[in-house]
Amino acid sequence: MNIIKLDAIESTNFYLKELAVKNDVESYTVVSANYQIAGRGQMGATWHSEIGKNLTFSILIKFDSLEIEHQFYLSMAVSLGLLAAIRMHISSPLFIKWPNDILAEKDKLAGILIENIVSGNAIKQTVIGIGLNVNQEQFPATIGNVTSLKNVTGIFLDTDLLLETIVISIQNFMGYVERKEFEQLKKIYLKSLYKYKKPAMFEDKKGAIFLGKIVDVFEDGKLVVELEDEKNRKFNLKEIKFASRRS
Ligand code: BTN
Repeated sequence: MNIIKLDAIESTNFYLKELAVKNDVESYTVVSANYQIAGRGQMGATWHSEIGKNLTFSILIKFDSLEIEHQFYLSMAVSLGLLAAIRMHISSPLFIKWPNDILAEKDKLAGILIENIVSGNAIKQTVIGIGLNVNQEQFPATIGNVTSLKNVTGIFLDTDLLLETIVISIQNFMGYVERKEFEQLKKIYLKSLYKYKKPAMFEDKKGAIFLGKIVDVFEDGKLVVELEDEKNRKFNLKEIKFASRRS
C-alpha cells in the first residue's frame, strides 16, 4: 500500500486524478490530507471536515476488465469495505444509505465520491474519495444529521491505523468485483441497505413527498422503489432522496 500523506490540499480526489494523468500510479495508491481547502461531496456539494480530526482520503484502483454497466458494483464494494472497517469499532447499528453514505443509526458518518476514468466501454481506473468523521465532536448546525466515531463510541481513534484498516477492507471487497461475483456482492449490500424493504418517505426532484419501499438496486445504480399502488419505479441519484427527518 502506497500512502501519500499531505497537509493541506484542494481535494484528495482532484490531486490523485491529476497524479494519475501525469504518472503511472500503482493501483491502491492512497492520498490522505489533514485538510482539504475545497473538499467535494456528491452532486457538487462541499465536504467539511475539521483540520486533522478526521479521515479525508482517496484511493486509486486500476481494473483489467470492468464494464461501465457494472459500475455500481464498484460502489457497493467500496461502501461494504468501509462499513466492515467501521464495524470493528462500533457495535450499534450501521447502514449504507443509497447510494453509498454510511449511517450510524440515522446520522451520516461517512461519504464517498467515486470518479471513474473510462476508456470506451470500460472503467480503467477509479478514484475513490472517502470522508469519514473520526474524532470531530462538534459540527456546524447547518450540516445536520451528522456524527463521528468519537461521538458514537466516546473513543478517540488513531486515524493512521484506521486508514490502513479501511484500505485493506476495501481491497477485500473489491475481490468480488475482480472475480465478477456480482450477485453475491449485491446480496451483502442489500443486507446493510438503509430502509431496504421498509416503508420510508421519499422526496422527488419536484419536491413531492411520497411513501415507498426500496425493493432493489440495479447494476447501473438506479434505485427501485415500490410505490403505494404496488408498482415499481426506478430512480437515479438526481431524481429521489429520502425526505428529511421523517425517513
Ligand atoms: C458525499 O457524501 O457527498 C461524498 C463526500 C466525499 C468526501 C471525500 S473527502 C476525500 C475526497 N476528496 C474530496 O474532495 N471528496 C472526497
